Amino acid sequence: MKKILVTGGAGYIGSHAVVELRQAGYQPIIVDDFSNSQESALAGIEGILGSKVPVYRINCADEAALRTVFAAEPGIVGVVHFAAFKAVGESVQKPLAYYRNNLDSLLALLAVMPEFGVESLVFSSSCTVYGVPDALPVTEATPTKKATSPYGATKQMAEDILTDVAAAGGPRTILLRYFNPIGAHPSAKIGELPLGVPNNLVPFITQTAAGIREKLTVYGTDYDTPDGSCVRDYIYVVDLAKAHVVAVRRLLEKQATERVEIFNVGTGRGNSVLEVVRTFEEVSGQKLNVELGPRRTGDVPAIYADATKAETVLGFKTEGSLAEALTSAWKWQQTLGK
Ligand code: WQD
Repeated sequence: MKKILVTGGAGYIGSHAVVELRQAGYQPIIVDDFSNSQESALAGIEGILGSKVPVYRINCADEAALRTVFAAEPGIVGVVHFAAFKAVGESVQKPLAYYRNNLDSLLALLAVMPEFGVESLVFSSSCTVYGVPDALPVTEATPTKKATSPYGATKQMAEDILTDVAAAGGPRTILLRYFNPIGAHPSAKIGELPLGVPNNLVPFITQTAAGIREKLTVYGTDYDTPDGSCVRDYIYVVDLAKAHVVAVRRLLEKQATERVEIFNVGTGRGNSVLEVVRTFEEVSGQKLNVELGPRRTGDVPAIYADATKAETVLGFKTEGSLAEALTSAWKWQQTLGK
């Protein structure tokens, strides 16, 4: 079975990708330092797959430790690199931690991969590289803009590093620019486990519905959008995970036409915060305690994907609706208790 190293494989998107990779016939190998994930995710993955996935508890930025993993797992043919800090707001407070962690882990990986002949890499990038777009929807040709946070800056720098290294003979790379991943595996055995107070909208909604949070504050209803609240492209996390399998297969089967390929991974639809709130109330039957509050610094008023390229080149199209994704999020939250 072809081994795929999945850094951050115990995390939210990583764990869902591990499940989809295994079910597609690959052997995922998890590397995670559990700085932003929990061991319980491993039990969830095992519960879904019915078998254990090898796990190495190391920090990707530790080059020597990473080398021992490649040495211990001969036959790794590709890497999916998720491991990174990813909270936009937190990155403004802790820029050095974000630059150190997110860039050192990538640089260590790029140093070790060629030593073991591994030349396929799928990288977890982000729509934050577009900054505040001039036109919507954004395509892969939409110019990137100065990031609005250190988090976004690390993703832009990572894309530049990967492009330069690939041009110099480094790994063939697919950059997947995510929009807003939401929801949980339909089995409710894995899902989003925000540590502390959630930054993101959907876990805050589900924790409010579960009584863990007293109310949900909608950050701004005076934007130039249909209902005044911000618009995002909310993609079901299982669909996003499946996009990684498609990207891995494309690289391993040498179908990529360029050394670095870029794909937006989104639904192609924009939904406002208030629409998400209303849809959640409909699918869950829970009335949310909502306060309409001031804008959140750094928020982009509206961004959603033109998902055409992934559909025409990768043959990838999302399947989950907003309602289905929110239903899965609520089902998952109910397994977590208070
Ligand atoms: C969405 C909307 C908030 C919480 C995320 C990831 C980032 C990147 C891009 C991958 C905004 C509003 C939120 C709340 C609210 N993804 N909101 N009340 O900011 O789009 O960024 O997607 O790389 O890593 O963080 O997502 O869920 O934080 O916010 O009104 O309690 O919900 O203002 O308009 P965001 P988010």
